[in-house]
Amino acid sequence: MKDAPEIVVLPGDGIGPEIVSATREVLDALGDFNYDERLMGGCSIDADGVALTDEVLDACKAADAVLLGAVGGPKWDTTNPDEPRPEQGLLGLRKGMGLYANLRPVRPSPALMGASPLREDRISGTDLLVVRELTGGIYFGKSGREGDAAFDTCEYDASEIDRIARVAFDAARRRAEGSGRKPKVTSVDKANVMETSRLWREVVGRVVPDYPDVDFENMLADNAAMQLVSRPADFDVLVADNLFGDILSDEAAMLTGSLGMLPSASLGADGTPGLFEPVHGSAPDIAGNGIANPLATFLSAAMMLRHGLGMPDEAARIEEAVDKALEDGLRTPDLAGGPAAPPPMVDVPPEVEVGTAEMTAAVIEALN
Ligand code: IPM
Ligand code: MG
Repeated sequence: MKDAPEIVVLPGDGIGPEIVSATREVLDALGDFNYDERLMGGCSIDADGVALTDEVLDACKAADAVLLGAVGGPKWDTTNPDEPRPEQGLLGLRKGMGLYANLRPVRPSPALMGASPLREDRISGTDLLVVRELTGGIYFGKSGREGDAAFDTCEYDASEIDRIARVAFDAARRRAEGSGRKPKVTSVDKANVMETSRLWREVVGRVVPDYPDVDFENMLADNAAMQLVSRPADFDVLVADNLFGDILSDEAAMLTGSLGMLPSASLGADGTPGLFEPVHGSAPDIAGNGIANPLATFLSAAMMLRHGLGMPDEAARIEEAVDKALEDGLRTPDLAGGPAAPPPMVDVPPEVEVGTAEMTAAVIEALN
């Protein structure tokens, strides 16, 4: 038998520890995993003065995969550039592990159609993937402050753009496999304004001929923001730089009605362990109340099984179990439709509001 995979677990701050421990229960119901729990984020600042220690970064690099909860909270909010911030841990991990490709799939669950702020006929059929460049651009360029002036710089080179474009085209192909539909990639930029975007458009354009089976379009970022809410079902794979990808993935996430549903995978070169985390934040306002929605972390664990550990069947079992719990009407408070929610078009049993523990138990039961 193969050795149990080594997973570095970074629960982080706020609701992070609750949703990660719920996810460990789900994983344990599926197989054998070794966990190495470490501090990262605000909790690491409190313990060690920095959001990410070299020791934790090294442990992550040596693992088979890294599972993360969420980081940050008002306790560590500061505008003083000399004070450590929890987010530095996340950025340090992305850069330190070379995780240049961030995959954020958005597929509204049929049972949750009523929870979206958009009309059901608009979002119906939406199934898209945001591929975000994660280790370059304005996030990692030179920045500074001189008195009352400040600057950030955005830099990209062709190799960084080429590799993320290929991730997007490969993902589009994989997603369409066996479906009979033609895959499509939409590349997002501001080539009308930014020089990095003009390079982006040029380099992506050089990759296009290698994928004649994939439809392709360029779209300006502001237009993409608009099209995402007006006709989300027309998108397949969106590829964008670090900042546009950050913004558009939150927008796309809201199509599902809850940021609490969206998983993500951050991947590097072949053989590099991936980092898997929910898209939502640490929700410090509800931390410790037992009502956090663990589903995005369960779905992130599914992405970990599929993309990081070569266990696609187990991944699908988690995804099906999450769908089942929702179809049975279970809702954490963030998903529960208020009285104003329109009746969903599909038949679903009445909603039952549950906490983290009940949702977890229901998903585990649905696994079997
Ligand atoms: C995300 C988050 C991070 C980002 C923050 C917490 C630094 O918004 O993962 O999308 O901007 O990348
Ligand atoms: Mg973000």
